[in-house]
Amino acid sequence: MCISASLVTLSLVTSLVALITQLQLVQCCPSSEWASLMAIKASLYEPNFGIFHTWRGTNCCYKWYGIACDPTTRRVAQINLNGLTVPDNRRRLNRHATTGYMTGHISPSICNLTQLSSITISDWKGISGIIPSCIQTLSLLQILDLSNNSITGQVPKSIGSLTQLTMLNLADNRISGTIPTTLTNLRNLVHLDLRNNLMRGHIPTDFGRLNNMNRAFLSHNLLTGPIPETISRIYGLAVLDLSMNRFSGKVHESLGRMPVLDSLKLKYNRLTGEIPSTVLGSRMTHLDLRGNMLSGEIADVFGERSYFINLDLSFNNLSGSVPKSLSSANYIGHLDLSHNRLCGRIPSGEPFDRLRTTSFEHNKCLCGMPLKPCTQETV
Ligand SMILES: *[C@@H]1O[C@H](CO)[C@@H](O)[C@H](O)[C@H]1NC(C)=O
Ligand SMILES: *[C@@H]1O[C@H](CO)[C@@H](O)[C@H](O)[C@H]1NC(C)=O
Ligand SMILES: *[C@@H]1O[C@H](CO)[C@@H](O)[C@H](O)[C@H]1NC(C)=O
Repeated sequence: MCISASLVTLSLVTSLVALITQLQLVQCCPSSEWASLMAIKASLYEPNFGIFHTWRGTNCCYKWYGIACDPTTRRVAQINLNGLTVPDNRRRLNRHATTGYMTGHISPSICNLTQLSSITISDWKGISGIIPSCIQTLSLLQILDLSNNSITGQVPKSIGSLTQLTMLNLADNRISGTIPTTLTNLRNLVHLDLRNNLMRGHIPTDFGRLNNMNRAFLSHNLLTGPIPETISRIYGLAVLDLSMNRFSGKVHESLGRMPVLDSLKLKYNRLTGEIPSTVLGSRMTHLDLRGNMLSGEIADVFGERSYFINLDLSFNNLSGSVPKSLSSANYIGHLDLSHNRLCGRIPSGEPFDRLRTTSFEHNKCLCGMPLKPCTQETV
C-alpha cells in the first residue's frame, strides 16, 4: 500500500513504530504515475533478468529497477534501463545472459510522466515500434537515449519542443524519414547521435543553430545533399561524423577553421572538389575522407601544428605528389594515400620511413620506399 503524506503525519502522532515502518512509503509516487509505469511495463517483455519483477506494489519510487524519483516531489524523474549494465545480482533468471534482450514497444503512456528529465532505454536490441510523438509533453527532458534497439518510424517533429534536451541518442535502430527541421530548435543539444539508421534527405540548412553541440554522429544513413556550411559556425563542435551516407558537393574551407574540431569523418560519400588547405593544415587529429571523389592536389601545408592520429585520403581521385611538408608534421600515426592518382617520389624521413606499401599502393606512378625504386620515367 502506498500511503499519502498526510497519513504519515498522522501516524507520526500516533506511534513512532508506525512511522518507522512507513518511512519507505513516504516516497510513494502519484498513482497516475504508477499507472503510466504499469502501462510501460505492459508493453515491454524482458525474459532474462526479470527487471519488471521489481516493478510491483504501488510505490514506484521504491526499489523499482531503473526508476528514480525526485526526492521532494516524488514524481518520476528518470527511467534508466540499459541492456549492457544490468548488475550481476539481477541475472537470476538467466545467469548465462551477458547482455539484455527486450522486446515490445515504448508505450505512449511515457508522455504522462511529465517530470522526466532522463530516459535511457538502450542496448536491448529487440524493442521495436515508434518513438511516441506525444513526447513533446516531456518539456524537462534532458537525456533521451533509445540507442541500439529496433525502433522504426520517424524522429517525431515534436522533438523540437524539447528545448532542455542536451543528449539525443537514437543510434543503431531502423529509424527512417528525414531529420526534422525542428531539430535545430534544440539549442541546448550537446551530443547528437543518429548513426546507423535509415534516414534520408538533407541535413537542415540551419544546422549551425545547434551552437552548443560538441559531438554529432550521423554516419551510416542514406542522407543526401550538401554538408551545410552553417555547421562550421558551431564553435565547440569537436567531433563531426557524416561517414557512409550519400552527401555530395564540396568539403567547405570553413570546416578547417573551426577552433575545436578534432575529428572530421566524411568517408564513403560522394564529395567532390579539392580538399581545402585549411582542413589539411588544421589541428585536427582524425581526418577521414576515404572513398569520395575528391580531386586536385594535396596541399603542401603540413607543419608543427599537424598532429594526425589518422589521416586517410585513400580511394579518391587526388593527383600531384605526396606533400614533402608531411615530414615536418608533429605526428602522423596512420596515413593512407592509396587508390588515388598520385605520382612521383615518396619523400623520406618521418613518417615515411615507417609506413608500409599499403599507405601508397594503387596510385598512378608513385615510387621510392616503401614502393619500388624510382626510374627515369617516374620522377
Ligand atoms: C495518459 O494521459 C492520457 C491523457 O491525459 C490519458 O488518457 C491516459 O489514460 C493516461 N495514461 C496512463 C497510463 O496514465
Ligand atoms: C547492442 O546491444 C546488444 C545487446 O545488449 C549488445 O550485445 C551490443 O554490444 C550492443 N551494440 C552496441 C553497438 O552497443
Ligand atoms: C579525376 O580528376 C581528373 C582531374 O584531375 C578529372 O579529369 C577526372 O574526370 C576525375 N575522375 C573522376 C572519376 O572523377
